[in-house]
Amino acid sequence: MKTLTHHYPGTFFSFEGIDGAGKSTHIQYFSEELACRFPDKKIILTREPGGTPLGEKLRQSLLNESMDIRTEALLMFASRQEHLSTVIEPALMRGDIVISDRFTDSSFAYQCGGRGLSIRDLDVLETWVQTRQYGQQTFLLQPQLTFLFDLSAEVAQQRRSATRNPDKFEELDVDFFNRVRNEYLRRASQSPERFVMIDSSHSIQDIQQQLKTCIAKL
Ligand code: ADP
Ligand code: TYD
Repeated sequence: MKTLTHHYPGTFFSFEGIDGAGKSTHIQYFSEELACRFPDKKIILTREPGGTPLGEKLRQSLLNESMDIRTEALLMFASRQEHLSTVIEPALMRGDIVISDRFTDSSFAYQCGGRGLSIRDLDVLETWVQTRQYGQQTFLLQPQLTFLFDLSAEVAQQRRSATRNPDKFEELDVDFFNRVRNEYLRRASQSPERFVMIDSSHSIQDIQQQLKTCIAKL
């Protein structure tokens, strides 16, 4: 199925990567640079799981409680459905810029790559939640661009342990994060036009420069 990207007046970006790869460090900078480039646009910085009052409650459970892996996948998509219908789509229809810290690529990476659910099952959920009609055509609502912060699982773990207490996912081992990373790379290779690869082993300044160059081309 084609992806629905250019039929809304707004623009949708997502940030992705394994925990500790640098999303949070760069998302604020990206948002501020976009605001300079497009001063008339409203910018909405949001996140998954979360981004709505219900989604934030689901996030609390998802990041802290152990649960069946299918329950985990379903709650990720429940949070996403609420996020799409009450925040993301209304913003895109108004012409705003939406930047989401994680979106569906995270579900493929963590619930398929990491946890071992089948890609077929996640394809079903993605199709159910993200299919939209536009005229006669059916599309999959996806971000226009996804910035994938790519880093080895070992370095990401070192960076995390230097700064924060682990949540339920961050407690998992390097093998888990290697599988998550590999699934991200597989998704990126399937949709190279959507993904911007960021080598997170580079310095913060280098990455900021790469983001700035990207914004200049928008
Ligand atoms: P994420 O949001 O992807 O989990 P963070 O942005 O919180 O990752 O980054 C994890 C840690 O790594 C933070 O302490 C941050 O300061 C540090 N960090 C982020 N990017 C870099 C980088 N390019 N080089 C060195 N350290 C970095
Ligand atoms: P994250 O948003 O990265 O929080 P923090 O910045 O505090 O580390 O963490 C959310 C966690 O949820 C992260 O470990 C990835 C996981 N996750 C999934 O497993 N599946 C999903 O679909 C999403 C959106 C997140």
